[in-house]
Amino acid sequence: MNTGVNDLRRAYLEFFESKDHLCLNSFSLVPQNDNSLLLINAGMAPLKPYFTGQEIPPRRRVTTCQKCVRTGDIDNVGKTARHLTFFEMLGNFSFGDYFKHEAIAWSWEFLTKVLELDPNRLYPSIYGEDEEAFEIWTKEVGVAPERITRFYRDPETGECDNFWEHGAGPCGPCSEIYYDRGEKYGCGKPDCKVGCDCDRYMEVWNNVFTQFNGDGHGGYEELAQKNIDTGMGLERLAVVMQDVDSVFDIDTMKAIRDKICEMSGKKYQVDALDDVSIRLITDHIRSSTFLVSDGVTPSNEGRGYVLRRLIRRAAKHGRALGIDGLFMAKLSETVIIECKDGYPELWEKREFIFKTLTAEEEQFNKTIDKGLEILAKMEEELKASGKSLRHLELRSFQVRTHSSFTILTDSL
Ligand code: GLY
Repeated sequence: MNTGVNDLRRAYLEFFESKDHLCLNSFSLVPQNDNSLLLINAGMAPLKPYFTGQEIPPRRRVTTCQKCVRTGDIDNVGKTARHLTFFEMLGNFSFGDYFKHEAIAWSWEFLTKVLELDPNRLYPSIYGEDEEAFEIWTKEVGVAPERITRFYRDPETGECDNFWEHGAGPCGPCSEIYYDRGEKYGCGKPDCKVGCDCDRYMEVWNNVFTQFNGDGHGGYEELAQKNIDTGMGLERLAVVMQDVDSVFDIDTMKAIRDKICEMSGKKYQVDALDDVSIRLITDHIRSSTFLVSDGVTPSNEGRGYVLRRLIRRAAKHGRALGIDGLFMAKLSETVIIECKDGYPELWEKREFIFKTLTAEEEQFNKTIDKGLEILAKMEEELKASGKSLRHLELRSFQVRTHSSFTILTDSL
């Protein structure tokens, strides 16, 4: 089968439609009637009232590909193979309908029959004492018991990899599926196995058995109905299916990355610092484009500040790469072309997206230029008085220490 991001998204949604799920469009990144979240950060987030039974869903089986933004790890973006601030989450959901048996069986069927992944490279994990999930994996799916990893709660922190929760709300134990990408992606340590931090065993699927409502402080109440919330990161799945090194190498991301290289005249994988900038811009232009398309505009608080920070960080790294002048709008055109298959609203709102990105980038550039003027003047004055400003090295952005830049922009 075709392994492009747009093909994988379609294949997943069609598979769950064939299992009687209603396919809904992605909800906006801006949460509706949910003050607990600044931005939608998981496929299940816009569906919370259906899990709790507060609202009646249009059907008890739903499938979506949800736009998500998470900025908690923003400082890692560009530096690692996996961190992204914008990602797409594939999900199949049951609101008091099917539960563990079907969810586990269908996840295996999709991965091994539709995507034709080798079952010998797939490793399920379960929540410590979830014997029911263990039995389903071993007796119904036929996975050998020794291939299943149990994750237990950390006795000190109480945290557990296989208990899914994001703040307050519907949550529960989960069962993940890891794919062994092979030794070439491993750390080489003798005890490298599922759960290792390296890139060999990659989590591709997460079946959450959503049966509790958490208060966000460790208190749980059993929900009236048992639900399923599946999360599968589309970009990660594409990494596995396309057998590439990182999320920045999958087809839709590579198109953006290549455009940045074309604009800056840089080549990818020549200079490590350049690569960080290229990857960071590749990510941030996606989140910025999608946020603007959902009506978020740059400001100094809340969602607007998240967006402002993303745009300014990307603009700063664009300068560091030597891109001359405004580039964000032009680059967002590539995002729109790559993603409009799944998100036609991007194309419809393109003029607004270009205008918003350009206005913020212009304002940022003016601030930077003004700051540079002031510093240049200070340098002149210091020089005239016989002192120097060597440590600032602000004469050029080609000075790749980034330290000078940081002085002007370290609040980003
Ligand atoms: N909501 C399940 C997940 O994001 O993994």
